[in-house]
Amino acid sequence: MSEPKKLYIKTYGCQMNVYDSERMSEALGGQGYVETKSPDDADMILLNTCHIREKAAEKVYSELGRFKGLKAEKPDLKIGVAGCVAQAEGEEIMRRQPLVDLVVGPQSYHRLPEMEAKTRAGEKALDTDFPEEDKFEKLKNRPKAKRGPTAFLTVQEGCDKFCAFCVVPYTRGAEVSRPADRIIREAQDLVERGVREITLLGQNVNAYHGAGPNGDMTLAGLIWELNKVDGLERIRFTTSHPNDMGDDLIEAHGTCDKLMPYLHLPVQSGSDRILKRMNRSHTAESYLRLIERIRAARPDILMSGDFIVGFPEETDEDFQATLDLVEQVRYGYAYSFKYSTRPGTPAAERPQVDGEVADERLQRLQAMITRHQREIQDEMVGRTVNVLFEKPGRQPQQMVGKSEYLHAVHVTNPDLAIGDLRRVRITGSGANSLAGEVI
Ligand code: SAH
Ligand code: SF4
Ligand code: F3S
Repeated sequence: MSEPKKLYIKTYGCQMNVYDSERMSEALGGQGYVETKSPDDADMILLNTCHIREKAAEKVYSELGRFKGLKAEKPDLKIGVAGCVAQAEGEEIMRRQPLVDLVVGPQSYHRLPEMEAKTRAGEKALDTDFPEEDKFEKLKNRPKAKRGPTAFLTVQEGCDKFCAFCVVPYTRGAEVSRPADRIIREAQDLVERGVREITLLGQNVNAYHGAGPNGDMTLAGLIWELNKVDGLERIRFTTSHPNDMGDDLIEAHGTCDKLMPYLHLPVQSGSDRILKRMNRSHTAESYLRLIERIRAARPDILMSGDFIVGFPEETDEDFQATLDLVEQVRYGYAYSFKYSTRPGTPAAERPQVDGEVADERLQRLQAMITRHQREIQDEMVGRTVNVLFEKPGRQPQQMVGKSEYLHAVHVTNPDLAIGDLRRVRITGSGANSLAGEVI
């Protein structure tokens, strides 16, 4: 048998890219590729890219530049760009960086085997179509390898919301939900391979409306079906939009035993004036009321969110409204970003906020978020949580896992194995994680 060819994949951006990279690796597995951890011994390098902010997109070109030497040494090395930069920039990537052999958009991964063959024949391969066929079905032929205890599972892709700052509706296309039976089969398969926790993914996951046995299903309906899968212990989902938070989903947080008490619900700003300009179609008040209802259903739920500061025309007053909202919600985790102008989006045309002003606001917001995050984490000390252990820690006999609230928990105990789900009493709170002991 010939030596297997080696594939190096580097993944940027969101969890959906992590999921997609696994699918691409499986698709090329059929062509005789095995994954390698280093670009140096690779026969093919794939960068799975993100276009969400300018810095993310620019990283791709600097990374590609670094492969020049490798390609000179090894002319057979093929270099590909996948993901959202591939979708947004297409052929332009090959023009700007001629060493790129292959450009593939997120909707065309199932065509990778043919594209790879084309590059082996010395041609360039480009595919940024939004084809009609179901790429997930075509990507199904996976090897039945064992896996770690947690996995992502894409259930919905694309977005029709067109927030004024965002590239996702252009790079991922219109919203599409996968049929429920295929998702359940994939979940069962993951569980057979050792997975105990599944995070359902979608750019707008709570807008899920996939075909079920009795018409379209909601995300809550799908979660209840997954709740029946034996051996699956935990269900999470991300990312949700406040406007798609249905009553049945709120209720499920109080009643569905495998659904974890953690919800990522981005609001972006606390100012109604800015929310309107962002085309978010919710207000700060409606968002706060929504959180009240979610907390009524599940009082201990840990909230997480996303914020953009320095959106065009944001004033000090607008920013103060964001701080006020954060103070009211108290997020267990929150991600905040300085607005980044994305060509082709409506906000790119509007009067921009001074960069230093935006930097200063970002620092203030992050300081507040970090304070809440730390307080909420510290409040866990003395409590008992469930921890799913994912990997060994740095200390001898130490394991690291996640609580139901997604806090990282370190436990030193020689009897623990990866995949164990245990009751743990929290004994300490550090900078970014908790410490505890099995009870
Ligand atoms: N589907 C997710 C968004 C994915 S992008 C959702 O609807 O929440 C993740 C986060 O990146 C967004 O929530 C937003 O806070 C941030 N983001 C998106 N576009 C941005 C831009 N142009 N500049 C800065 N941050 C941006
Ligand atoms: Fe982007 Fe999310 Fe808005 Fe869709 S809902 S446009 S993915 S920020
Ligand atoms: Fe980035 Fe595309 Fe995800 S732009 S955040 S990789 S959907």
